[in-house]
Amino acid sequence: MGVIFKKVKESKAGFDLYLLSAKSAWKSVLSEYKASIEAGIEKKRQVLTLAKGDRLIYVGIVSEELKSAEDSEAIRNLAHSVFNMAKAEESKRVNLHNLCKSNEISALFAEGFGLSTYEFLHHRKDQEKVAHQLEELCFVDDAISAKKIKELNAQLDATMWARDLVNEPLSHMTAMDLAKAFEAKGKQSGFSVDVLSKKKIQSLKMGGLLAVNKGSIDPPTFSILEWKPKKARNKKPVVLVGKGVVYDTGGLSLKPTPNSMDLMKSDMAGAAMMAGVISAVAQADLDVHVIALIPASDNRPSGNAYVPGDIITMFDGTTVEVLNTDAEGRLLLADALSYAKKYDPQLVFDAATLTGAAVRAVGTFASAIMGTADKKVIEQLQESGERTYERVVPFPLWADYGKEMKSAIADLNNLGSGLAGQITAGKFLEHFTDYPWVHIDIAGPSFLPSANTYRPKGASGVGVRLLFDFLKNMK
Ligand code: BES
Ligand code: ZN
Ligand code: ZN
Repeated sequence: MGVIFKKVKESKAGFDLYLLSAKSAWKSVLSEYKASIEAGIEKKRQVLTLAKGDRLIYVGIVSEELKSAEDSEAIRNLAHSVFNMAKAEESKRVNLHNLCKSNEISALFAEGFGLSTYEFLHHRKDQEKVAHQLEELCFVDDAISAKKIKELNAQLDATMWARDLVNEPLSHMTAMDLAKAFEAKGKQSGFSVDVLSKKKIQSLKMGGLLAVNKGSIDPPTFSILEWKPKKARNKKPVVLVGKGVVYDTGGLSLKPTPNSMDLMKSDMAGAAMMAGVISAVAQADLDVHVIALIPASDNRPSGNAYVPGDIITMFDGTTVEVLNTDAEGRLLLADALSYAKKYDPQLVFDAATLTGAAVRAVGTFASAIMGTADKKVIEQLQESGERTYERVVPFPLWADYGKEMKSAIADLNNLGSGLAGQITAGKFLEHFTDYPWVHIDIAGPSFLPSANTYRPKGASGVGVRLLFDFLKNMK
């Protein structure tokens, strides 16, 4: 699985792909194919297969003008088509000859190509028969920088890892397994991991996390991941909080199975995203101080499960009337958001598969965002969303939406009226913050019902590239 990106002077045996546009100077390199290529450009073909002696070469025809997010995405999508051809050829290596002026084109191609190589096969006995053979994508004599290649490798590895964490079902990914996966990746990528045990979580009185975990046979975990470079750009850390519900049955407010509970191994996609971001930042050696907080548990009914009507006391002392045990994400996120205060953070992001309302509002093509951070931060996040095609749609946090989260018998309730559920959930979370904060509801794009070019069916790894881009560009 996966590929490594490399820069080489000359290509070795493999699948040769030439990227060009109508405007690029391809004629000196591919003069013998002049007629075919001109015809391909004319007919707006995307990939041409040409005979070179007894072997084949391939030509990808792109538009060099990257005016919109869609233009860049078209290059990633073209790379996905090329991946399918290289897979069919059983190639181990793709040699990428970029004849376009800009090396942004080859970087986008690499992104789409790399993300297409994902496979989740290790539970299958026939995995070797069905797996692709690709091992590397070589930038042949490209002006792309070593730094950019390092970032591309880091980002790809992190996204693949996040996809794996999400695709792994509860039978293989309990809260403890998730914490162990963080520790293993931390060793490999160079970030530190501290896992708080159930005992510690109890002594800290994280009432939200403990309530969700009450019906479980497995203990909860609270993982603290940190990347602290010697010379960080930011004085105060950026804190990332990720929802780590390793399985959401709904608890006693039980979910129905078809197209609902059966997808809920993915309810830790926020956790996978934030851990992936830290891993990418560490592997790329970015000069930003980042901490991730991951509260994790499954949510299930049992004789001892928390019940609708319970009043629980959160980590920060807030009391919450639980009106629906399926609105569990906000309970454990709230404890982590309160915990984040101790770091005096510059900025906090949280990511969560939080609400069905977010899916209904924006579908699988975007995440719903809202928060108290500066307008500029929101704009920069939107720009990162466009650049990575992991787009975000801002929603308001008007006080009106908060009213329905009050309770007559406690400080808050966890349910709301059902209208604008992604916003009322956001209002609930806001109560536990006192710093600049952005909430990212990834319920739609994190787990796909069917493949969408380089995003396979199942876990998409959404958000890793989004926040990695944001952190790279953060002043
Ligand atoms: N994990 C779900 C949200 C979800 C739904 C994620 C669909 C991905 C796809 C969350 O815990 C949940 O059940 N939310 C409820 C909240 C409601 C009871 C206030 C929802 O959105 O229905
Ligand atoms: Zn739920
Ligand atoms: Zn959930």
